[in-house]
Parts: sequence; structure tokens; C-alpha cells
Amino acid sequence: MTTLEARPKVGVPGIAARKRRDGADPVVMITAYDTPFARIVDDAGVDLILVGDSVADNVLGYEDTLQVDVAQIAHHVAAVARARPRALVVADMPWMSYHLGPADALRNAAVLVRAGADAVKLEGGRRRLPVVQAILDAEIPVMGHLGLTPQSVHALGGLRVQARDPEAAAELLLDAKALAVAGCFALVLEGVPDAVATAATGAVDVPTIGIGAGADCDGQVLVLHDVLGLSTRPSPKFVRRYADLATIARDAVAAYAADVRSSAFPGDDETYHASPALRDSLAARGD
Ligand code: KIV
Repeated sequence: MTTLEARPKVGVPGIAARKRRDGADPVVMITAYDTPFARIVDDAGVDLILVGDSVADNVLGYEDTLQVDVAQIAHHVAAVARARPRALVVADMPWMSYHLGPADALRNAAVLVRAGADAVKLEGGRRRLPVVQAILDAEIPVMGHLGLTPQSVHALGGLRVQARDPEAAAELLLDAKALAVAGCFALVLEGVPDAVATAATGAVDVPTIGIGAGADCDGQVLVLHDVLGLSTRPSPKFVRRYADLATIARDAVAAYAADVRSSAFPGDDETYHASPALRDSLAARGD
């Protein structure tokens, strides 16, 4: 077994080849937006760290992901990259960073790579092919994202499960194949019925990474704040919460506040003590 210490940097070709039907282990992706959590998730052995535009609603207090721009994502990508993770760092291209044409999209993808991203992710299917092609032509790996695409929240009429009827499922399969053939190294499938994700996973030669897409994808992704119980919103059905850090953090801060108020903090061990000579000289001043 490879120890985490000996784990080499995860590369795009290695991820692109991770199909479970070929006997590969499931791909593990999770979000992180800052240096300490990037260290933690990397030490835990994830394959990919997604600096998602979900930073908007999980960290920055916005209602939806439409509120963050390239500079904000780049700021968080740089923080994650400073942890020097072995995991592959994928930067989300935020809304309006790839909607104004291939040249603009490529410029924005390059900003994210220069901030420390190993790859970028963008939402949408066949209509994004020119943009995907331009970014790939500059040797920047692209991850696709289909199904419930949160940047389309208004067009979709809310964040609801997609591809529920045969026509929409067929469209999703065409999108998945087109993105994979174009050269995307992996596809996120979000908020789709399990059978649709199973069909998409069978239809493409790159890994599918599911979130609310059932158990048959080649990997899974969750938002770190949901996994750790740091999210303030009600969790969607697909989230599994592995810890309740919000309660742990609140209790810790409440204990600190109680210690300050009762003068139990700081204690002797937490104090820099003056030398007797300094004490005497201060006492002699009589101020
Ligand atoms: O921004 C994000 O966290 C995402 C995941 C939900 C896939 O795009």
C-alpha cells in the first residue's frame, strides 16, 4: 500500500483513465477553498480538490453561485495551491467567465491556472464545445459538468433534479458523449436520476463524478462544508454528513468566552512573565 507521504502528485491522465468498469478505484473529489482545509483534505487522501464556485454560498454568504467572479475564484485557488496538495486542483470557472466567447473564456481559464489550478471545470453541454475546445487547445485540462448546473438556477427555475424524462435524459447523454469526445478528462454529473448517470457513465470513456447522481458513477464529489456539518442551509438528500464541526466550533468558542468572562483565561502557563527586575522598575515608576 502506498503511504500518503509517498503519494505522488495526481495527474490528469491518471484521472482520465479511472473507469470503474476497467477495475479502477472510485475517484474521490471534494471542495476546499482555503489553505488549512486544502491540507486536511489532501492529508485525507482525496484525488481531486475542487475550488468550486460553491465558495459563494458556503463561505462568502451569498445566496447562489452567480455572485463570484474570476478574481474571487483565483484568490481561493491560490490559497488552496499554497497547501501544495498532491491532489489535482480543479478551479471552477464562474458564471460569465466563459459565456462571452472562446477567447474570453481562455483568458479567464489562464488566470485560474496562473493562480495554481491544474485544470478547470465549466457547466453545460454541446453549446459549450467551442469554449471547451479553445481551453483544451491551450493545453488546459477541462472537466465538464452536466445535469443540475447551479449557474443555470434561474433558467432551470430552481435547483431541481434534471433529466427526469426520456427526452431530457437523451439530451444529457448526447452532451456527455460530446464533451468526452471533445477531450474533457472527467464529467461531473449533478442531480440526475441514478439510471441516467449509469447510462452516461457507460456511454463515455472518461470518469463520471457524481453528486446526487447515484452509486454507479466512476467517482463522487461533495461540498466540504456539507460533509463536515459546517453548512448553514438544510442539506440536500444526497449529502452524507460525516461530522458536526459547527457544533464543535460553537462549543469551543463558547468555552473560550466563558473562560474570559470568569478570568479563567489566560492562565499562568499562557502568560509571558516579567522578570523581577522589570517588575521592580515598573513599580518604582509609580505611574
Ligand atoms: O462548486 C461546486 O461545489 C461544484 C460541485 C457541486 C460539483 O460545482
